[in-house]
Amino acid sequence: MNVLIMGPAGAGKGTMSDLILKEYDIPHISTGDMLRANVANHTDLGNKAKAYMDAGKLVPDEVINAMVEDRLQQPDCQKGYLLDGYPRTLVQAKEFERIAAKIGKPVECVLGLEVDFEVLKDRITGRRICPKCGATYHIHNFPPKVEGVCDNCGEKLVQRSDDTVEKLTKRMEEYEKSTKPVIDFYDQKGLVTHLDASGKPEAVFGAIKEALGKIA
Ligand code: AP5
Ligand code: ZN
Repeated sequence: MNVLIMGPAGAGKGTMSDLILKEYDIPHISTGDMLRANVANHTDLGNKAKAYMDAGKLVPDEVINAMVEDRLQQPDCQKGYLLDGYPRTLVQAKEFERIAAKIGKPVECVLGLEVDFEVLKDRITGRRICPKCGATYHIHNFPPKVEGVCDNCGEKLVQRSDDTVEKLTKRMEEYEKSTKPVIDFYDQKGLVTHLDASGKPEAVFGAIKEALGKIA
């Protein structure tokens, strides 16, 4: 199954990806997660990406395309992919057409998550993450058992450096300018399922399963 999950910051791409992985055996490839791992490990790529991410700007296309092309050639992607956060610009989308053709795995479905700004603001400012195991929480919607502590590994939870209202606004501008045209690009190919993702996770996931059922 070859699937893209798209939507603005806080739409629930990561949360829904976790649920999808429990039902479907495909690798989850999140460019945001890959970049944050590189930043944490102080790799050349991470050092290059950090300033862009901290400012809520997109990392240059050539850096991202090379990273994704490399990842998609790993053996586990023979099963397909769930790509989260890529492609995010038309340049990436065109390059991804070439990469997908090269590995013989064209996109079959694009999940377009749609959520109003006020809800996004609440989700982003309330999000907490575990720096050790990567688990995601929300102070009201998905609080950990003990406040500020990861249920899985006991690590102290932190906020992502780009999870402020100011940076969310910048990320939304980038989304409107650069990523909406990518959704239009796939809409013209008839591949997008537009989903209201402002409801409870079970409701959103139900709609996703219906969309994926058509290609599974
Ligand atoms: P990335 O990590 O992709 O961030 P993003 O797109 O801004 O998305 P988020 O991770 O913030 O949100 P999400 O939709 O996954 O929401 P989540 O499920 O966590 O990218 C970060 C940066 O990296 C970019 O700004 C850019 O600099 C760079 N980058 C990445 N890819 C790039 C690319 N291709 N090109 C260039 N640059 C790139 O949910 C959010 C919160 O809400 C959580 O707390 C969750 O618990 C809660 N929540 C989720 N769903 C629900 C629900 N249904 N009900 C209630 N609460 C919910
Ligand atoms: Zn943890």
